[in-house]
Amino acid sequence: MDPVKAQYEAYPYPQRDSADEDKRLITGSPSAVAEIDHYLYGGKRDWSQPFRALVAGGGTGDGLIMLAQQLAERNCPAHITYIDLSTASRAIAEARAVRRGLAGIDFHTGSLLDATERGTFDYIDCVGVLHHLPDPDAGFSALTKALKPNGGMGLMVYGTMGRTGVYDMQMMLGHLTAQDRTPDQEVQTAKALLQDLPDTNRFRRNPYVSDHKNNDAGLYDLLLHRQDRAYTVPELYAALDGAGLGLVSFVGRWNYDCSSLISNAKIKARLLQLDERTQQAFAEAYTGNLGKHTFYVAHKDHAASITLPTPNPSSVPQLQNIDRAALVKTIRAGNPLKGRHEGLSINVALPPLAADILDHLDGATSLDTIHNRIKPRPDAPTFYRQVDDIYRVMNGINMMLLRQA
Ligand SMILES: C[S@@+](CC[C@H](N)C(=O)[O-])C[C@H]1O[C@@H](n2cnc3c(N)ncnc32)[C@H](O)[C@@H]1O
Repeated sequence: MDPVKAQYEAYPYPQRDSADEDKRLITGSPSAVAEIDHYLYGGKRDWSQPFRALVAGGGTGDGLIMLAQQLAERNCPAHITYIDLSTASRAIAEARAVRRGLAGIDFHTGSLLDATERGTFDYIDCVGVLHHLPDPDAGFSALTKALKPNGGMGLMVYGTMGRTGVYDMQMMLGHLTAQDRTPDQEVQTAKALLQDLPDTNRFRRNPYVSDHKNNDAGLYDLLLHRQDRAYTVPELYAALDGAGLGLVSFVGRWNYDCSSLISNAKIKARLLQLDERTQQAFAEAYTGNLGKHTFYVAHKDHAASITLPTPNPSSVPQLQNIDRAALVKTIRAGNPLKGRHEGLSINVALPPLAADILDHLDGATSLDTIHNRIKPRPDAPTFYRQVDDIYRVMNGINMMLLRQA
């Protein structure tokens, strides 16, 4: 059996129990509907119109379930196709959909390389999969062929810098586990090696990678994978260029943005003379923390035509990944906004109106209305300048999106 299929039959990843659907919805990036709307449709998509999505390498269903649930909540006449190599993973994803009563999903066991056999799609989710293909470029290409001309994709591939030490471990364990007969024996071998690493070992010196601590499926996926590569920013652009795709945006743009990350004015001035891709590659090396790249892409021509939304009077800001009430309290107490992304701490002072503005964000009210509700009412240039500052920071750390009313 293909070693990748064998792995995910033995250890469906991530490990999930359908009964947990009664307690919580797992959300994240990409593929939250508000994010798809923001990055691919300028915050203006009419969700009463049909939407055809493919979840490629859908695994145990995290992206699939979030997407299906959020589309159902918008009463969108959506149709979702799920494809995965692993029947064990598919069984878990199907059970989760049944538990939630989600309809309109077609489940297929097979390869995303054959995606076009299922038709063409408005949206494709492919998270944590392409870097496990024998030829990832063939995967990028197959998905591009299955994407409608005006469609978009939300992708995640591993980042090289943040995975420091992971490939050292995979190499060592590749040798060590040759004598093991079962995946469970391999896991035991890996655990023994983990106990025996010197302080100087690069994996041991990288505290930001922790999947192996969650459960055996996480350990296997991280350290015992037989087919696994990671991307630097330039390598990622090369893959996208090769497939005829254009980057619309990284999610968590802060981490790729030299002007946000770097405070030394002389260094910053030099960097800002470089082209955007080089700046992003610099930012990635500067922080050294990115173990994943999450991003939205479209066909090259279409990507070039997409304008990301910026705040204006009819924008309706959408908060995500943050407890609004707690944030307002923190800021009113005079503290900065704190964020953390793959180990990188972000600490930014927000402008004086931030607490009042954030206090009014309910995901349904436009900036124009919020402006009128703040007492005393600030003048428009002051209000919108501060909104821009808040948006730049909060969108950069993936806490704010825009919907256009
Ligand atoms: C790390 S899991 C990610 C699952 C899911 N996308 C998520 O984010 O939770 C990778 C999945 O990709 C699937 N996979 C690997 N190669 C594939 C291929 N060529 N076609 C379809 N699925 C594939 C595996 O079976 C596995 O379920």
